[in-house]
Amino acid sequence: MKRRTFLGSLSASAFLVGTSSFSLGQAAVKRLTMPPLLDARSAGQVRLEALKGQTGFVGSSGTNTWGFNQPFLGPTLRMPTGRSTQVDVYNSLDETISVHWHGLLVPGVVDGGPHQPIAPGKTWSPELAITQPAATAWYHSHAHGATARQVQLGLAGVLQIDDGQDDARGLPSEYGVDDLTLVLQDRRFTRGGDFDLSPSMPDRMMGFLGDTILINGQVGSSAVVPKGLVRLRLLNGSNARIYTLALSDDRPMHLVATDSGYLDKPIQLSKLLISPGERFEVLVDFSNERDVTLTSEHNPNIGMMGGMMGGQRQQSGRFTVLPFTVDTTLPVRITKLPDDLGGTRPNGNAANANWRRLSLDMPMGMGMMFGRSDSMFSINGDAFAMDRINFRVTQGAFERWTVSADMMMHPFHVHGAKFQVLSENGRAPRPQNTGWKDTVLVNGAVDLLIRFDQPAPANAPYMYHCHILEHEDAGMMGQFTVG
Ligand code: C2O
Ligand code: CU
Ligand code: CU
Repeated sequence: MKRRTFLGSLSASAFLVGTSSFSLGQAAVKRLTMPPLLDARSAGQVRLEALKGQTGFVGSSGTNTWGFNQPFLGPTLRMPTGRSTQVDVYNSLDETISVHWHGLLVPGVVDGGPHQPIAPGKTWSPELAITQPAATAWYHSHAHGATARQVQLGLAGVLQIDDGQDDARGLPSEYGVDDLTLVLQDRRFTRGGDFDLSPSMPDRMMGFLGDTILINGQVGSSAVVPKGLVRLRLLNGSNARIYTLALSDDRPMHLVATDSGYLDKPIQLSKLLISPGERFEVLVDFSNERDVTLTSEHNPNIGMMGGMMGGQRQQSGRFTVLPFTVDTTLPVRITKLPDDLGGTRPNGNAANANWRRLSLDMPMGMGMMFGRSDSMFSINGDAFAMDRINFRVTQGAFERWTVSADMMMHPFHVHGAKFQVLSENGRAPRPQNTGWKDTVLVNGAVDLLIRFDQPAPANAPYMYHCHILEHEDAGMMGQFTVG
């Protein structure tokens, strides 16, 4: 029964497969909107309320959803670097949540991981002293064992660290006009129109995959852009889906920033892999006035275990992520690709670094066949335990982490630091991984060079984990102190 439902949902895929399903003549095409912008730069403070709501998606009038300050997902927070922002998070839901600042280099006590739960009716008030370079970060629930479900319901949003220098850099910076925030997610719906939140066996093993793509919480919308260069701040906010992005007419994407900030200069890419938790900023040139569609290949993780899972099949071809329409009446601001972005590319020395090896382990054999997956996901054989510190790191010292995974690809994320990808499977990192990162897709083995400059005591340790949220919740996570 379960299996049939799953196959059915894949073959009756609600993906807008191919680009032909989008036509300008259709009156039904909705214009993509941005999350509301909540700018903390002048007030120095921001208030979030986690709440319940109802959201209309395709064919569903009211899906029960959660959000911050709105029914689904949260506002884009813009915070200054070099100054503190006072945050109040009020939890009006009836279960415990947490709010983690993914990408902020802040002390463990304000990191928002599972050790800073916010009980129903309570307010958590961290002060975020941001000193790091400008970057696109995000925030999401990190409640112990409940992250996958709470993020699916909507407890996630984008956080921009702003240094006020984008005009000087020559980068598009007009929110929602030539500077688009794009949150990529996938969902499935029940017959009743709610999110399908009961993970199937393949979901538990591979991570949740939906059959409907949401951009900023919207289904089937189209972005309207001016002629000229447009910046896309891409966040993969999906639980498990890995996107291989490309533009339908093969025009290039110019990578300007990775997770932790700007590159030195743009890197031209024809395709971009983005796994859960990662952010990439690219510039796309619309000066030829032609419409184009952002597409993705299907999830590459299906194929690797497909035979064993008996149900997940490799799908080939591409699906629509987001169509773009050029509106030539919009004022054109930026037409020239900046050559100096003012950022840096990490170039550290691993010679004296403390070397750790982390193996992302999946359940094997009979346990896997019978779906007894709980607590069989681990790192180095240890499933996450709230009361176990896995290791201690010296503040300010370099560490070399070799992270490996077999069976499938896993996006590996570390709290409290940015890192350099030294190598992927012994070779130089892919161009898209040559900037500063806090999350990286492990397909085999990666070597990372990392330094922790912020403290994290034993009562507020940092997490390291797979960002496939079902894996994280099932134990593919550990914690460490910095001091
Ligand atoms: Cu985005 Cu520990 O998470
Ligand atoms: Cu994080
Ligand atoms: Cu994983």
